[in-house]
Amino acid sequence: MSDDTVMIFDTTLRDGEQSPGCSMTTSEKMKVAGELVELGVDIIEAGFPIASPGDFEAVQKIAQEFGSQTTICALSRCRKDDIDRAWESLKEAEKSRIHVFLATSSIHREHKLKMNKEQIVETAVEMVKRARDYCADVEFSPEDAARTEKDFLCEVVEKAIEAGATTVNIPDTVGYATPAHYHGVITTLKQNVPNINKAIISTHCHNDLGLAVANSLSAVEAGARQIECTVNGLGERAGNCALEEVVMALKTRSDYYGLHTNINTKRLYPISHLVSTVTGMTVQRNKAIVGKNAFAHEAGIHQHGVLQERTTYEIMHPEDVGYIGTNLVLGKHSGRHAFRDRIQSLGHNLDDETFQRIFDEFIALADKKKEIYDSDIIALIENQVTDT
Ligand code: KIV
Ligand code: ZN
Repeated sequence: MSDDTVMIFDTTLRDGEQSPGCSMTTSEKMKVAGELVELGVDIIEAGFPIASPGDFEAVQKIAQEFGSQTTICALSRCRKDDIDRAWESLKEAEKSRIHVFLATSSIHREHKLKMNKEQIVETAVEMVKRARDYCADVEFSPEDAARTEKDFLCEVVEKAIEAGATTVNIPDTVGYATPAHYHGVITTLKQNVPNINKAIISTHCHNDLGLAVANSLSAVEAGARQIECTVNGLGERAGNCALEEVVMALKTRSDYYGLHTNINTKRLYPISHLVSTVTGMTVQRNKAIVGKNAFAHEAGIHQHGVLQERTTYEIMHPEDVGYIGTNLVLGKHSGRHAFRDRIQSLGHNLDDETFQRIFDEFIALADKKKEIYDSDIIALIENQVTDT
Protein backbone atom coordinates (compact mmCIF):
# COMPACT_ATOMS: atom_id res chain seq x y z
CA MET A 1 0.00 0.00 0.00
CA SER A 2 1.39 3.39 -0.91
CA ASP A 3 1.34 6.14 1.69
CA ASP A 4 -1.30 8.11 -0.19
CA THR A 5 -3.84 5.25 -0.23
CA VAL A 6 -6.55 5.14 2.42
CA MET A 7 -7.85 1.62 2.95
CA ILE A 8 -11.61 1.27 3.22
CA PHE A 9 -12.71 -1.29 5.82
CA ASP A 10 -16.41 -1.90 5.49
CA THR A 11 -18.29 -3.09 8.58
CA THR A 12 -21.87 -2.92 7.25
CA LEU A 13 -22.25 -6.66 7.82
CA ARG A 14 -20.96 -6.49 11.40
CA ASP A 15 -21.32 -3.10 13.11
CA GLY A 16 -23.99 -2.01 10.60
CA GLU A 17 -26.02 -5.10 11.28
CA GLN A 18 -25.97 -4.25 15.00
CA SER A 19 -28.32 -1.37 14.16
CA PRO A 20 -31.73 -2.11 15.70
CA GLY A 21 -34.01 -3.74 13.12
CA CYS A 22 -31.23 -4.19 10.54
CA SER A 23 -30.37 -7.86 10.85
CA MET A 24 -29.77 -9.67 7.56
CA THR A 25 -30.07 -13.28 6.48
CA THR A 26 -27.02 -15.13 5.19
CA SER A 27 -28.23 -14.87 1.60
CA GLU A 28 -28.80 -11.12 1.99
CA LYS A 29 -25.31 -10.79 3.45
CA MET A 30 -23.89 -12.69 0.48
CA LYS A 31 -25.52 -10.22 -1.92
CA VAL A 32 -24.19 -7.24 0.01
CA ALA A 33 -20.73 -8.84 0.19
CA GLY A 34 -20.76 -9.35 -3.60
CA GLU A 35 -21.57 -5.67 -4.10
CA LEU A 36 -18.88 -4.65 -1.62
CA VAL A 37 -16.35 -6.57 -3.71
CA GLU A 38 -17.57 -4.73 -6.84
CA LEU A 39 -17.34 -1.47 -4.95
CA GLY A 40 -13.67 -2.19 -4.27
CA VAL A 41 -13.52 -2.13 -0.47
CA ASP A 42 -10.18 -3.39 0.86
CA ILE A 43 -11.58 -5.30 3.83
CA ILE A 44 -15.05 -6.70 4.53
CA GLU A 45 -15.81 -7.26 8.20
CA ALA A 46 -18.30 -10.05 7.66
CA GLY A 47 -19.49 -10.67 11.21
CA PHE A 48 -18.85 -11.79 14.77
CA PRO A 49 -18.69 -15.59 14.47
CA ILE A 50 -18.99 -16.44 18.18
CA ALA A 51 -22.21 -14.40 18.45
CA SER A 52 -24.49 -16.98 16.81
CA PRO A 53 -24.45 -19.96 14.45
CA GLY A 54 -26.01 -17.69 11.80
CA ASP A 55 -23.18 -15.18 12.10
CA PHE A 56 -20.61 -17.97 11.89
CA GLU A 57 -22.26 -19.40 8.77
CA ALA A 58 -22.40 -15.99 7.06
CA VAL A 59 -18.71 -15.26 7.71
CA GLN A 60 -17.74 -18.73 6.54
CA LYS A 61 -19.73 -18.47 3.30
CA ILE A 62 -18.43 -14.97 2.56
CA ALA A 63 -14.88 -16.17 3.24
CA GLN A 64 -15.33 -19.14 0.88
CA GLU A 65 -16.94 -17.11 -1.91
CA PHE A 66 -15.07 -13.81 -1.78
CA GLY A 67 -11.91 -14.49 0.22
CA SER A 68 -9.70 -14.58 -2.88
CA GLN A 69 -10.89 -11.16 -4.05
CA THR A 70 -10.72 -9.07 -0.92
CA THR A 71 -9.71 -9.50 2.71
CA ILE A 72 -12.46 -11.00 4.85
CA CYS A 73 -12.37 -10.09 8.53
CA ALA A 74 -14.07 -11.62 11.56
CA LEU A 75 -14.52 -9.90 14.92
CA SER A 76 -13.48 -11.51 18.17
CA ARG A 77 -13.34 -10.50 21.81
CA CYS A 78 -10.02 -11.09 23.57
CA ARG A 79 -11.05 -14.64 24.47
CA LYS A 80 -9.55 -17.89 23.31
CA ASP A 81 -12.87 -19.41 22.19
CA ASP A 82 -13.79 -16.30 20.21
CA ILE A 83 -10.48 -16.28 18.37
CA ASP A 84 -10.65 -20.00 17.60
CA ARG A 85 -14.21 -19.61 16.28
CA ALA A 86 -13.24 -16.56 14.21
CA TRP A 87 -10.40 -18.50 12.60
CA GLU A 88 -12.62 -21.53 11.99
CA SER A 89 -14.98 -19.31 9.98
CA LEU A 90 -12.18 -17.62 8.02
CA LYS A 91 -9.73 -20.39 7.33
CA GLU A 92 -10.81 -21.06 3.74
CA ALA A 93 -10.27 -17.46 2.66
CA GLU A 94 -7.06 -16.66 0.80
CA LYS A 95 -7.01 -13.23 2.42
CA SER A 96 -8.26 -13.10 5.99
CA ARG A 97 -8.00 -10.93 9.07
CA ILE A 98 -8.84 -11.56 12.72
CA HIS A 99 -10.00 -8.41 14.53
CA VAL A 100 -9.63 -8.63 18.30
CA PHE A 101 -10.91 -5.97 20.65
CA LEU A 102 -10.70 -5.17 24.34
CA ALA A 103 -11.94 -2.04 26.09
CA THR A 104 -9.30 0.23 27.60
CA SER A 105 -11.10 3.29 29.04
CA SER A 106 -11.41 3.61 32.82
CA ILE A 107 -15.22 3.50 32.58
CA HIS A 108 -15.12 0.16 30.76
CA ARG A 109 -12.27 -1.23 32.87
CA GLU A 110 -14.05 -0.51 36.13
CA HIS A 111 -17.71 -1.08 35.31
CA LYS A 112 -17.74 -3.63 32.51
CA LEU A 113 -14.55 -5.67 32.58
CA LYS A 114 -13.55 -5.27 36.24
CA MET A 115 -9.92 -5.51 35.13
CA ASN A 116 -6.96 -3.30 35.99
CA LYS A 117 -4.52 -1.81 33.48
CA GLU A 118 -1.95 -4.61 33.85
CA GLN A 119 -4.60 -7.26 33.20
CA ILE A 120 -5.80 -5.40 30.11
CA VAL A 121 -2.29 -5.21 28.64
CA GLU A 122 -1.54 -8.83 29.48
CA THR A 123 -4.81 -10.07 27.94
CA ALA A 124 -4.44 -7.96 24.81
CA VAL A 125 -0.89 -9.21 24.24
CA GLU A 126 -1.79 -12.85 24.83
CA MET A 127 -4.82 -12.70 22.50
CA VAL A 128 -3.08 -10.80 19.71
CA LYS A 129 -0.40 -13.49 19.81
CA ARG A 130 -3.02 -16.24 19.68
CA ALA A 131 -4.66 -14.59 16.66
CA ARG A 132 -1.24 -14.21 14.99
CA ASP A 133 -0.62 -17.94 15.43
CA TYR A 134 -3.52 -18.43 13.02
CA CYS A 135 -3.31 -15.46 10.74
CA ALA A 136 -0.65 -13.01 9.50
CA ASP A 137 -3.16 -10.14 9.38
CA VAL A 138 -4.38 -9.17 12.86
CA GLU A 139 -6.18 -5.99 13.87
CA PHE A 140 -6.37 -4.87 17.48
CA SER A 141 -8.97 -2.38 18.77
CA PRO A 142 -8.76 -0.78 22.21
CA GLU A 143 -12.52 -0.28 22.54
CA ASP A 144 -13.55 3.19 23.73
CA ALA A 145 -10.07 4.44 22.81
CA ALA A 146 -11.28 8.02 22.45
CA ARG A 147 -12.12 8.10 26.19
CA THR A 148 -8.99 6.22 27.28
CA GLU A 149 -6.17 8.01 29.15
CA LYS A 150 -3.65 8.88 26.45
CA ASP A 151 -0.60 7.42 28.21
CA PHE A 152 -2.39 4.11 28.79
CA LEU A 153 -3.65 4.05 25.20
CA CYS A 154 -0.07 4.51 23.97
CA GLU A 155 1.10 1.65 26.19
CA VAL A 156 -1.60 -0.77 25.01
CA VAL A 157 -1.08 0.11 21.36
CA GLU A 158 2.68 -0.31 21.64
CA LYS A 159 2.35 -3.72 23.31
CA ALA A 160 -0.28 -4.87 20.79
CA ILE A 161 2.03 -4.01 17.89
CA GLU A 162 4.93 -5.74 19.64
CA ALA A 163 2.70 -8.84 20.00
CA GLY A 164 2.02 -8.83 16.26
CA ALA A 165 -0.94 -6.54 15.47
CA THR A 166 -0.60 -5.30 11.90
CA THR A 167 -3.43 -2.76 12.18
CA VAL A 168 -4.32 -0.75 15.28
CA ASN A 169 -7.83 0.60 15.23
CA ILE A 170 -8.71 3.53 17.49
CA PRO A 171 -12.47 3.35 18.10
CA ASP A 172 -14.57 6.28 19.15
CA THR A 173 -17.06 3.73 20.39
CA VAL A 174 -19.62 6.16 21.77
CA GLY A 175 -19.20 9.00 19.27
CA TYR A 176 -17.72 11.29 21.93
CA ALA A 177 -14.81 12.73 19.99
CA THR A 178 -14.65 15.98 18.06
CA PRO A 179 -12.37 16.47 15.04
CA ALA A 180 -9.63 18.33 16.96
CA HIS A 181 -9.79 15.87 19.88
CA TYR A 182 -9.57 12.80 17.62
CA HIS A 183 -6.75 14.38 15.58
CA GLY A 184 -4.93 14.84 18.90
CA VAL A 185 -5.37 11.18 19.84
CA ILE A 186 -3.86 9.97 16.56
CA THR A 187 -1.04 12.53 16.76
CA THR A 188 -0.21 11.42 20.31
CA LEU A 189 0.06 7.82 19.12
CA LYS A 190 2.26 8.83 16.17
CA GLN A 191 4.57 10.79 18.45
CA ASN A 192 4.77 8.50 21.47
CA VAL A 193 4.48 4.90 20.30
CA PRO A 194 7.98 3.96 19.10
CA ASN A 195 6.87 1.07 16.83
CA ILE A 196 3.75 2.82 15.46
CA ASN A 197 5.02 2.77 11.87
CA LYS A 198 5.00 -1.04 11.91
CA ALA A 199 1.18 -0.99 11.90
CA ILE A 200 -1.55 0.81 10.00
CA ILE A 201 -3.56 3.22 12.13
CA SER A 202 -7.30 2.86 11.61
CA THR A 203 -10.31 5.03 12.48
CA HIS A 204 -13.64 3.71 13.76
CA CYS A 205 -16.04 6.55 14.50
CA HIS A 206 -19.61 6.41 15.72
CA ASN A 207 -21.98 9.21 14.86
CA ASP A 208 -23.66 10.13 18.15
CA LEU A 209 -22.77 13.81 17.70
CA GLY A 210 -23.07 13.70 13.90
CA LEU A 211 -19.27 13.95 13.64
CA ALA A 212 -18.24 10.47 12.48
CA VAL A 213 -17.20 11.50 8.96
CA ALA A 214 -15.48 14.70 10.14
CA ASN A 215 -13.61 12.78 12.85
CA SER A 216 -12.48 10.10 10.39
CA LEU A 217 -11.16 12.73 7.97
CA SER A 218 -9.40 14.48 10.81
CA ALA A 219 -7.68 11.23 11.80
CA VAL A 220 -6.58 10.70 8.22
CA GLU A 221 -4.99 14.15 8.28
CA ALA A 222 -3.10 13.05 11.39
CA GLY A 223 -1.80 9.94 9.63
CA ALA A 224 -4.46 7.20 9.82
CA ARG A 225 -4.58 5.12 6.65
CA GLN A 226 -7.62 2.90 7.21
CA ILE A 227 -11.20 4.09 7.70
CA GLU A 228 -13.86 1.81 9.16
CA CYS A 229 -17.28 2.71 7.85
CA THR A 230 -20.66 1.39 6.74
CA VAL A 231 -22.92 1.83 3.74
CA ASN A 232 -25.55 4.51 4.48
CA GLY A 233 -23.82 5.05 7.85
CA LEU A 234 -25.68 2.12 9.42
CA GLY A 235 -24.70 1.10 12.92
CA GLU A 236 -25.44 1.14 16.63
CA ARG A 237 -27.50 4.16 17.80
CA ALA A 238 -26.78 7.04 15.38
CA GLY A 239 -24.60 4.79 13.26
CA ASN A 240 -21.03 4.67 11.99
CA CYS A 241 -19.03 6.83 9.61
CA ALA A 242 -20.89 6.71 6.26
CA LEU A 243 -18.74 5.03 3.61
CA GLU A 244 -20.17 7.00 0.68
CA GLU A 245 -19.62 10.33 2.43
CA VAL A 246 -16.06 9.79 3.58
CA VAL A 247 -15.01 8.32 0.22
CA MET A 248 -16.53 11.21 -1.75
CA ALA A 249 -15.01 13.75 0.62
CA LEU A 250 -11.54 12.31 -0.04
CA LYS A 251 -12.19 12.20 -3.79
CA THR A 252 -13.85 15.59 -4.18
CA ARG A 253 -11.25 17.29 -1.98
CA SER A 254 -8.22 15.37 -3.24
CA ASP A 255 -6.77 18.85 -3.90
CA TYR A 256 -6.60 19.23 -0.10
CA TYR A 257 -5.98 15.68 1.15
CA GLY A 258 -3.78 14.41 -1.71
CA LEU A 259 -5.04 10.88 -0.97
CA HIS A 260 -7.07 8.26 -2.75
CA THR A 261 -9.08 5.09 -2.08
CA ASN A 262 -9.59 1.98 -4.19
CA ILE A 263 -13.35 2.56 -4.33
CA ASN A 264 -15.21 2.48 -7.65
CA THR A 265 -17.46 5.39 -6.73
CA LYS A 266 -19.92 4.59 -9.52
CA ARG A 267 -21.08 1.66 -7.37
CA LEU A 268 -22.02 3.86 -4.38
CA TYR A 269 -25.59 4.56 -5.41
CA PRO A 270 -26.46 0.93 -6.32
CA ILE A 271 -25.05 -0.47 -3.07
CA SER A 272 -26.84 2.17 -1.04
CA HIS A 273 -30.12 1.01 -2.54
CA LEU A 274 -29.33 -2.65 -2.04
CA VAL A 275 -28.47 -2.14 1.64
CA SER A 276 -31.56 -0.02 2.15
CA THR A 277 -33.73 -2.72 0.57
CA VAL A 278 -32.33 -5.67 2.50
CA THR A 279 -32.34 -3.90 5.87
CA GLY A 280 -35.59 -1.99 5.35
CA MET A 281 -33.77 1.13 6.57
CA THR A 282 -34.74 3.94 4.21
CA VAL A 283 -32.21 6.54 3.21
CA GLN A 284 -33.27 10.04 4.27
CA ARG A 285 -34.15 12.23 1.31
CA ASN A 286 -31.51 14.86 1.96
CA LYS A 287 -28.75 12.37 2.86
CA ALA A 288 -25.41 13.44 1.34
CA ILE A 289 -24.29 11.51 -1.77
CA VAL A 290 -27.07 8.89 -1.95
CA GLY A 291 -30.25 10.70 -0.81
CA LYS A 292 -32.98 11.33 -3.35
CA ASN A 293 -32.38 15.08 -3.17
CA ALA A 294 -28.58 14.90 -3.14
CA PHE A 295 -28.30 16.10 -6.73
CA ALA A 296 -31.75 17.64 -7.22
CA HIS A 297 -32.03 21.32 -8.03
CA GLU A 298 -35.33 22.96 -7.18
CA ALA A 299 -34.73 26.72 -6.99
CA GLY A 300 -35.05 28.54 -10.31
CA ILE A 301 -31.75 30.37 -9.82
CA HIS A 302 -29.94 27.09 -9.21
CA GLN A 303 -31.61 25.42 -12.17
CA HIS A 304 -30.62 28.31 -14.39
CA GLY A 305 -27.04 28.20 -13.11
CA VAL A 306 -26.73 24.45 -13.63
CA LEU A 307 -28.16 24.70 -17.13
CA GLN A 308 -25.47 27.26 -18.01
CA GLU A 309 -22.62 25.43 -16.28
CA ARG A 310 -23.00 22.45 -13.94
CA THR A 311 -20.19 23.44 -11.60
CA THR A 312 -22.06 26.56 -10.48
CA TYR A 313 -24.02 24.46 -7.99
CA GLU A 314 -22.50 20.96 -8.33
CA ILE A 315 -19.29 19.96 -6.54
CA MET A 316 -19.61 16.33 -7.69
CA HIS A 317 -21.11 14.79 -10.79
CA PRO A 318 -24.07 12.55 -9.93
CA GLU A 319 -22.85 9.99 -12.46
CA ASP A 320 -19.59 9.68 -10.47
CA VAL A 321 -21.56 8.08 -7.64
CA GLY A 322 -23.64 5.98 -10.03
CA TYR A 323 -26.66 8.25 -9.96
CA ILE A 324 -27.83 9.08 -13.43
CA GLY A 325 -30.19 12.00 -13.55
CA THR A 326 -31.57 11.88 -17.06
CA ASN A 327 -34.01 13.64 -19.34
CA LEU A 328 -34.74 10.41 -21.08
CA VAL A 329 -38.24 9.53 -19.91
CA LEU A 330 -39.06 5.85 -19.90
CA GLY A 331 -42.61 4.79 -20.70
CA LYS A 332 -44.52 2.09 -22.54
CA HIS A 333 -43.18 3.27 -25.89
CA SER A 334 -39.57 2.87 -24.86
CA GLY A 335 -37.66 0.06 -26.50
CA ARG A 336 -35.25 -2.48 -25.18
CA HIS A 337 -32.16 -0.42 -26.02
CA ALA A 338 -33.19 2.57 -23.93
CA PHE A 339 -34.24 0.30 -21.10
CA ARG A 340 -30.96 -1.66 -21.12
CA ASP A 341 -29.03 1.61 -21.29
CA ARG A 342 -30.83 2.90 -18.21
CA ILE A 343 -30.24 -0.34 -16.30
CA GLN A 344 -26.53 -0.19 -17.10
CA SER A 345 -26.31 3.44 -16.13
CA LEU A 346 -27.87 2.53 -12.78
CA GLY A 347 -24.91 0.22 -12.28
CA HIS A 348 -26.42 -3.19 -13.10
CA ASN A 349 -25.22 -5.73 -15.65
CA LEU A 350 -27.89 -8.36 -16.07
CA ASP A 351 -27.80 -11.65 -17.96
CA ASP A 352 -30.22 -11.93 -20.90
CA GLU A 353 -32.76 -14.07 -19.07
CA THR A 354 -33.01 -11.73 -16.05
CA PHE A 355 -33.10 -8.71 -18.35
CA GLN A 356 -36.02 -10.20 -20.31
CA ARG A 357 -38.00 -10.89 -17.11
CA ILE A 358 -37.46 -7.34 -15.83
CA PHE A 359 -38.26 -5.87 -19.25
CA ASP A 360 -41.59 -7.76 -19.32
CA GLU A 361 -42.43 -6.42 -15.85
CA PHE A 362 -41.43 -2.93 -16.90
CA ILE A 363 -43.80 -3.05 -19.92
CA ALA A 364 -46.63 -4.26 -17.64
CA LEU A 365 -45.91 -1.42 -15.20
CA ALA A 366 -45.62 1.16 -17.97
CA ASP A 367 -49.16 0.27 -19.03
CA LYS A 368 -50.38 1.50 -15.64
CA LYS A 369 -48.14 4.57 -15.12
CA LYS A 370 -47.44 7.61 -17.29
CA GLU A 371 -43.76 7.61 -16.48
CA ILE A 372 -41.31 5.11 -15.01
CA TYR A 373 -38.79 6.49 -12.53
CA ASP A 374 -35.35 5.13 -11.68
CA SER A 375 -36.69 4.05 -8.30
CA ASP A 376 -39.28 1.87 -10.11
CA ILE A 377 -36.54 0.21 -12.15
CA ILE A 378 -34.33 -0.30 -9.10
CA ALA A 379 -37.30 -1.90 -7.31
CA LEU A 380 -37.91 -4.24 -10.27
CA ILE A 381 -34.24 -5.27 -10.30
CA GLU A 382 -34.03 -5.71 -6.55
CA ASN A 383 -37.22 -7.79 -6.47
CA GLN A 384 -35.69 -10.12 -9.03
CA VAL A 385 -32.36 -10.23 -7.21
CA THR A 386 -34.06 -10.83 -3.84
CA ASP A 387 -36.28 -13.52 -5.34
CA THR A 388 -33.44 -15.56 -6.83
O1 KIV B 1 -17.36 0.72 18.28
C1 KIV B 1 -16.48 -0.10 18.62
O2 KIV B 1 -15.67 0.12 19.51
C2 KIV B 1 -16.46 -1.37 17.90
C3 KIV B 1 -15.28 -2.26 18.16
C4 KIV B 1 -15.67 -3.67 18.24
C5 KIV B 1 -14.22 -2.01 17.14
O3 KIV B 1 -17.30 -1.63 17.08
ZN1 ZN C 1 -18.38 0.24 16.43
